[in-house]
Amino acid sequence: MRIVLMGAPGSGKGTQAQRLIERFGIPQISTGDLLREAAARGTPYGLRARAAMDSGALVADEIVLGIIRERLGQADAARGFILDGFPRNLPQAEALASMLDTIGKPLDVVVLFEVDYAEIVRRISGRRTCPRCGRVFNVHTHPPGTPPHCDQCDDRPKLVQRRDDEEVTVKRRLQVYEEQTRPLAEHYAAQGLLRVIQADAPVDVVTARLIEVLEPLERAQ
Ligand code: AP5
Repeated sequence: MRIVLMGAPGSGKGTQAQRLIERFGIPQISTGDLLREAAARGTPYGLRARAAMDSGALVADEIVLGIIRERLGQADAARGFILDGFPRNLPQAEALASMLDTIGKPLDVVVLFEVDYAEIVRRISGRRTCPRCGRVFNVHTHPPGTPPHCDQCDDRPKLVQRRDDEEVTVKRRLQVYEEQTRPLAEHYAAQGLLRVIQADAPVDVVTARLIEVLEPLERAQ
């Protein structure tokens, strides 16, 4: 299965991608995570990416496409993948299509997560991440204890808030989503690849809706 998860910041793409890994036996490829790793390593590309991410803008296509090309070339992506946060504009969508055409393995489906604005703001303000294992928590729906610590790591590191989850940056990210990413829905609808799910429901309900969309496609393979 070659899956794209699309949706506004905080719509739950990362949370659901994590759940699909085991179910479909394919890796999650999150450009946000890959860019944060590059930024943490302090490479010149990473530092350029960090500046864009901290402002809420998109990172330059040349950087993102380089990272994606390398990641899709790794052995674990040969059976399929869950793209989370990529593509995010038309040039990225076109570059992805041409990469996949070259190997004769086009996308199977693009799932768009619909969540209303107020819920997105609530989710993002409550998001906390473990700096060790990267697991995502939410103080509203998954209280990890007070003070908040990761309950999955032995040394229980203190959870942290993402730098780009501050209110002013979130507003900019949502604006960038509406202007540059959301129009991809029409692009994929025209190709017959788009499925839309209501994602403003509890996590398990959203997973069930997602599986309902994906299983028939898996059976058809
Ligand atoms: P990225 O890391 O991709 O962030 P994003 O797309 O803005 O998405 P988020 O990670 O904020 O949200 P999510 O949808 O994964 O939600 P989550 O599951 O965490 O990108 C960050 C930056 O990197 C971009 O701004 C850009 O600068 C750069 N970038 C990345 N990709 C790029 C690209 N292709 N091109 C250019 N630049 C790029 O959930 C959010 C919270 O809600 C969590 O706390 C979670 O626990 C909670 N939650 C999840 N589901 C539910 C539910 N059903 N009910 C209640 N709470 C829920």
